[in-house]
Amino acid sequence: KEDEGSGGDSGSGGSKKITLGFSQVGSESGWRSANTDSVKSAAKEAGYNLKFSDAQQKQENQISAIRSYIAQKVDVIAFSPVVVTGWDAILKEAQAAKIPVVLTDRSVESDESLFVTLVGSDFTDEGRRAAKILEKVLEKAGHKGKVKIAQLEGTTGAAPAIERAKGFKEIMDAEHKDDWEIVVSQTGDFTRAGGKQVMAAFLQSNPDINVLYAHNDDMGLGAIQAIEAAGKKPGKDILIVTVDGVKDGFIAMSEGKINAIVECNPLLGPQLMEVVQKVHDGEKVERWIKTEESDFMQDQAKDALPTRKY
Ligand code: AHR
Repeated sequence: KEDEGSGGDSGSGGSKKITLGFSQVGSESGWRSANTDSVKSAAKEAGYNLKFSDAQQKQENQISAIRSYIAQKVDVIAFSPVVVTGWDAILKEAQAAKIPVVLTDRSVESDESLFVTLVGSDFTDEGRRAAKILEKVLEKAGHKGKVKIAQLEGTTGAAPAIERAKGFKEIMDAEHKDDWEIVVSQTGDFTRAGGKQVMAAFLQSNPDINVLYAHNDDMGLGAIQAIEAAGKKPGKDILIVTVDGVKDGFIAMSEGKINAIVECNPLLGPQLMEVVQKVHDGEKVERWIKTEESDFMQDQAKDALPTRKY
């Protein structure tokens, strides 16, 4: 799906408008919708000619979008890669055409010379933060005995799925080897429907699960429906930690159904546009421009809700 940019060649100041080709992952989650809105409005604000396409979570769609941006000779290409591998060939095509590539949100496993920078979060640290906040959740709930964790993973092969699992496991192995165990772990593809379906199966196969760690709010929200359908209380019988911090996640947290949220900020548009301008002007930029984020416990949800921007 492609939205054509609005654009002539010159802005009101007479200088040539920057044409930015942006390939978005899809529209799988509330986080993604907020990210898309942020990119579109920041591009408008910056006066760029934005060519935007939604890959519907398919790598082949992203590759053809990028190839078409190369053919159209855009000034800069930005994209949020659905998975980490398989990008070398298309990145080399962009390099051969002398079009700089900026990664946003997610990273790739490619030679670093093939892209200029990454504007996005530290997902491994988000995984560590999820484990650390789970310690607080367990303490607050007065939990005794084994911690039997179900993990809802993001899209298989995607940076946030790999790294959020890795960071969480790092803390678990170092500090909770004897009392925490991930008893089931499967992808819910970052969607609400996926979270619901996979959690329903988890509850059948492992009725003794007492913690859910979901790699995003949407899967957590879907899982809540499955937990309630199984006659259990989310946030009580099963303690829940999710990642993102979208409004619906905060609403569920203020209702006592999610115990803690690790924030992942989707409002990357303004920072991305600044970087695009610098890259276009040939200025040096850092290799990784990291996003600032916070963590939230349930008792902060009601106060934080009115000021959530997404
Ligand atoms: O890459 C960021 C992740 O992608 C968000 O956490 C998730 O909600 C989205 O789909």
